[in-house]
Amino acid sequence: GGVITMDPGYKNTGSCESAITFLDGEKGILRYRGYSIEELAEKADFLEVAYLLIFGELPTKEQNEKFHNDIKAQSVVDEDVKKILDAFPKSAHPMGVISSLTSALTAFNPSSVNVDSEADMYKSVVRLLGKFPVLVAWTLRKKEGLPLDYGDKNLGYVENILKMMFRQPNSEYVQNKILVDALDKLLILHADHEQNCSTSTVRIVGSSHAGLFASISAGISALWGPLHGGANQAVLEMLEAIKEDGGDTKKYMAKAKDKEDPFRLMGFGHRVYKNFDPRAKIIKRAADEVLGNLGVEDPILDIAKGLEKEALEDKYFVDRKLYPNVDFYSGIIYRGMGIPTDMFTVMFALGRLPGWIAQWREMRLRKEPIGRPRQVYTGATERSFVPIEKR
Ligand code: CMC
Repeated sequence: GGVITMDPGYKNTGSCESAITFLDGEKGILRYRGYSIEELAEKADFLEVAYLLIFGELPTKEQNEKFHNDIKAQSVVDEDVKKILDAFPKSAHPMGVISSLTSALTAFNPSSVNVDSEADMYKSVVRLLGKFPVLVAWTLRKKEGLPLDYGDKNLGYVENILKMMFRQPNSEYVQNKILVDALDKLLILHADHEQNCSTSTVRIVGSSHAGLFASISAGISALWGPLHGGANQAVLEMLEAIKEDGGDTKKYMAKAKDKEDPFRLMGFGHRVYKNFDPRAKIIKRAADEVLGNLGVEDPILDIAKGLEKEALEDKYFVDRKLYPNVDFYSGIIYRGMGIPTDMFTVMFALGRLPGWIAQWREMRLRKEPIGRPRQVYTGATERSFVPIEKR
């Protein structure tokens, strides 16, 4: 009973208490478990950050090693999963493929749904952290017509991801430190962002006690949309279109401001950040650095910088407090690394995985009730059924 408070888009509704990520949108602060994103991006590696998010503290050397070993022990995927992958057309969007494959993991590990203890939960967590990168690599390799194989247990988590993605048949894979560092940083920056659309999805699906894999699969679907994680792909397509169009950024600025035109400046704006997105600041610097180190000169980067400069000086964007977000520059780095555009959002999912897991685990440990918002009904009042011949 009681009065229902309407808040479409949950702009001012808290759905839970959480001890994982702190975000101050006015000041542009983002911290995982109290550590600033700037410091973590600089000093930590992705697996440490995953541990931190999920378990609350940075791991000791021993904890880190055990965690990594447990993950590696789970990094083989049932060969039958390849048959599912085979059934997708090559043209399938990788986000659809990866969400299906993640969902399919439940079919191959039905016991993963029962998480009555922390030990059960841990099993599901390391399973997913082990298998998801394999699924990501396979999704890419299938698209590119490359053989589907496994990683290398002697490598670090992120090194292994790169090797699984890029290894060519009949040739030694040479690890490129620039790529490893860049990917580590990008994954850390994406690792959690409190109750965003995909994370809220993971928590709400998980709140019905659906298993971890089903909950994450739903989160991946939520992330796919261009207003959320899909923006990284959309940004690059937008920058490409501007380049093709002769680099006329003004024209696209005008389109973005035109309320009759559905076009939005992709990679701009954020529900919570109203001053700047701290992740975007780090990524912008990293884009310069990584492309410089790789010796890549990408005219798209100049278009992005030009567009950003114009938007930051434009009354429309200033009035609405619209700033570049995490997705604005990330795609330029992914592209420099040789990752195809339609895989960008999959890379986001790879980074967000520990955050989703941490939030799901927290929700289960706190025994949160099933998520079930209310509504205000605006439909027809009571009426009588009319037989089909009389309608
Ligand atoms: N280009 C042009 N106008 C914009 C944009 C944009 N990118 N973003 C917001 N606006 C305008 C919007 O039209 C509205 O104007 P008005 O007040 O005149 O009606 C005002 O700014 C407020 O926008 P809103 O849509 O009410 O804000 P929201 O909090 O509901 O949406 C958002 C946030 C991120 C969905 C939105 O800014 C957007 O669509 N941005 C482009 C897509 C994007 O880059 N998404 C990535 C988000 S960051 C990380 C992630 O989740 O992946």
